[in-house]
Amino acid sequence: MATCHGVEVVATLVAPFRARALPWDTFAPTTPGGLALPALGTHGASRRAMAILVTGGAGYIGSHMVLCLVRAGRPVVVVDNLSAGYRELLVEGVPFVHADIADGATMRDVIRERDIDAIIHFAAHTQVAESVRDPRLYWSGNVAATLNLLDAALASGVKYFVFSSTAAVYGEPERCPIDEEAPTHPINPYGESKLTIEQALADYARAYGMRYAALRYFNAAGADADAGLGELHHPESHLIPIVLQAALGRMSEVVIFGRQYPTPDGTCIRDYVHVLDLADAHMAALDDLRCGGDSGAFNLGTGTGHSVAEVIATCREVTGRPIAVVEGERRPGDPPVLVASPERARRRYGWEPRRSSLERIVRDAWAWHLREAAKSSHEPETRKAHAQHR
Ligand SMILES: NC(=O)c1ccc[n+]([C@@H]2O[C@H](COP(=O)([O-])OP(=O)(O)OC[C@H]3O[C@@H](n4cnc5c(N)ncnc54)[C@H](O)[C@@H]3O)[C@@H](O)[C@H]2O)c1
Repeated sequence: MATCHGVEVVATLVAPFRARALPWDTFAPTTPGGLALPALGTHGASRRAMAILVTGGAGYIGSHMVLCLVRAGRPVVVVDNLSAGYRELLVEGVPFVHADIADGATMRDVIRERDIDAIIHFAAHTQVAESVRDPRLYWSGNVAATLNLLDAALASGVKYFVFSSTAAVYGEPERCPIDEEAPTHPINPYGESKLTIEQALADYARAYGMRYAALRYFNAAGADADAGLGELHHPESHLIPIVLQAALGRMSEVVIFGRQYPTPDGTCIRDYVHVLDLADAHMAALDDLRCGGDSGAFNLGTGTGHSVAEVIATCREVTGRPIAVVEGERRPGDPPVLVASPERARRRYGWEPRRSSLERIVRDAWAWHLREAAKSSHEPETRKAHAQHR
């Protein structure tokens, strides 16, 4: 293990890619301080390929992104401060820098050492309720830290930036499905923080020529259990993992917040998209930018919504286990229906969320939960599941 500006730099070792000779094992650049970094890849004998920096690559969506990049043979480097990420989600052989994106000097070093020309930026605080309780975290961790990262990127000649945005930028939309022309009126600091960065990206693209895609995800779900990757948040606020934890007996029951919404079964409807489909969309967005595609915002959802009751029923079917539910109060700021129009991403990228049927999502997530449960010696939790299905 080496250090760079006092931060840890390691090449990770996880099982699924052991058989593969990753190209960056062949080259070992050195930091200005003389410390060896893990090797970066070569494409062909003469020239190093430009690499992609994935921030938040030890998190849920970021780790699946890294996996897809590795499978596509793209050189990739991960930066994560592990505030909400996990070492076990790091993909084998991928250089990992344990650092905060707000640390401009380290980010500049990583970008220059690694010939980074593109950043896929997942690192963020992601909990809506926390953002209301403690907005400072979101203004400093999501806004100020990302502005620092953008400074480092501009100073080091990064040309392309793919940003994890969110449906939360729309707030409580007037119509569904939601297209990108819908008004953006976030109703919490989390959504505000993401919209603020989208606005900064638009200004920076105009002024400095950096090109970007702001990808507004609806509800990411699913897993790649065979690769050992899945959804792991503490606290968990997403409906599907909460329901599956109840199926595992880790939670006594699932709370349904409101059954009198103007929807067919009275529960809220959301648009679930498989995490591997999200990763495909990022690859397509990056390729599009590299081929001269215009900057802009793109919804990533399926165009089909599923109610909370439907999700619970599908989880019962897939797991074959009973899942107890109780009714809770409707929560302020929970729109009845949030469904994307993904037409812009379809047209521009040719993107199809082909793994995103609810059944497939739940099956893949369940496979991962079962593997984790088999490994884990955790005591079952008895607390109630508070399904914050945002
Ligand atoms: N999960 C969803 O359904 C969803 C929906 C819309 C948008 N998003 C966005 O997608 C991105 C990824 O979400 P996720 O669910 O994978 O979250 P996650 O918490 O699993 O991953 C975020 C990762 O970023 C790291 N991180 C946070 N702040 C950092 C910092 N300052 N420096 C370095 N690393 C830092 C964390 O340690 C973690 O590994 C986030 O930007 C989130 O806002 C997620």
